[in-house]
Amino acid sequence: MENNNSFLVLFLAPVREYLEDDSVSEVLINGPQQVYIERRGKLEEVPAKFVSEAALRAAAANIAKSVGRMLDEMHPRLDARLPDGSRVHAVIPPLSRVGTVIAIRKFKKDTLTIDKMQEYGSLDDRTRKLIRALVLLHKNVIVSGATSSGKTSVLNALSSFIPEGERVLVIEDATELQLQQRHIVPFETRKADKNGQGEVTIRDLIRSALRLRPDRIVIGEIRGGEALDLLQALNTGHAGSMSTIHANSPIDCLSRIETCALLSGIDIPLVALRSQVASAIDAVVHTARLSDGSRKIVSVAEVEPLAQGEYRVRELVRWKTVSIAPDGRVEGHFEAVNAPSFADQAQIAGVDL
Ligand SMILES: Nc1ncnc2c1ncn2[C@@H]1O[C@H](COP(=O)(O)OP(=O)(O)OP(=O)(O)O)[C@@H](O)[C@H]1O
Ligand SMILES: [Mg+2]
Repeated sequence: MENNNSFLVLFLAPVREYLEDDSVSEVLINGPQQVYIERRGKLEEVPAKFVSEAALRAAAANIAKSVGRMLDEMHPRLDARLPDGSRVHAVIPPLSRVGTVIAIRKFKKDTLTIDKMQEYGSLDDRTRKLIRALVLLHKNVIVSGATSSGKTSVLNALSSFIPEGERVLVIEDATELQLQQRHIVPFETRKADKNGQGEVTIRDLIRSALRLRPDRIVIGEIRGGEALDLLQALNTGHAGSMSTIHANSPIDCLSRIETCALLSGIDIPLVALRSQVASAIDAVVHTARLSDGSRKIVSVAEVEPLAQGEYRVRELVRWKTVSIAPDGRVEGHFEAVNAPSFADQAQIAGVDL
């Protein structure tokens, strides 16, 4: 483990072995007496314990201090990114009822490449060609899914298909994406300081990005009013952009974008907003974490024009679960549902489907 992470290891000695174990992706501390880890997609309780709530609380406060934040009665929640890229969220009592709660999402040094995802069965060859075509043909794509379903990983994989030579502006709340191309310009938002000053939001950065001659804009995650700025950017010709959003299905993804856009405070008729969403977003790549812990691209859907004011999508491929093996493993296959509407366009562009 790198030196810059050693302070974390110091404060969190009881869970040190899990922080240093690269096969562990998350460490979840639910008060001093209970620790879970996630390994290969599965949660398991481990025997680690803290000697007391005071010791755990001190560890959390030290993490906060090391990143220039406070964790106390007045600031009972902490959101922090550590120098090694790991994300920490902590909540202290009385908000949390079991003592100090800390979740650490460890930063993966080796990114999940599309090859690895395919090897893990997260997608098949056809799905891979399809999402590659979406990127090469400059479609605007949103990756949707539940928490921890693999959205960011899929976005990272999608971005790997962006050809060298395009200028890509990347905007994130906390740097997670690792684009490999040469012409990448990454940005990160800034939280307000102790006096509530100096905040720079995703919305602000989108506005800047638009003035920095982007070929494509990649936004880590849409959570609020920035959805509106993104829609406007896409509808004014920044094709080939991509982002992620928390949603339960491709249709729900479109509704979520709409809800987020409304958070910006705009006042336009709902149908007008919906038609903006439907025309800005070309396709949704939906991810899921299955019951055995495996992550998959469970659906790729094209967005169609509104019908009677409602969203419609045309599913191209989907995962079909057939059975659950005695050991819990989910078995099934990917199936092609509809031919993509851009098949001709792909052929002309020489993109293999
Ligand atoms: N296809 C996959 N196969 C195996 N593990 C995966 C896969 N995709 C993601 N993971 C792992 O699952 C965890 C969550 O992945 P990721 O951060 O991409 O999800 P997310 O949906 O973006 O999460 P969040 O909701 O927190 O933003 C990570 O530890 C990641 O390494
Ligand atoms: Mg994510």
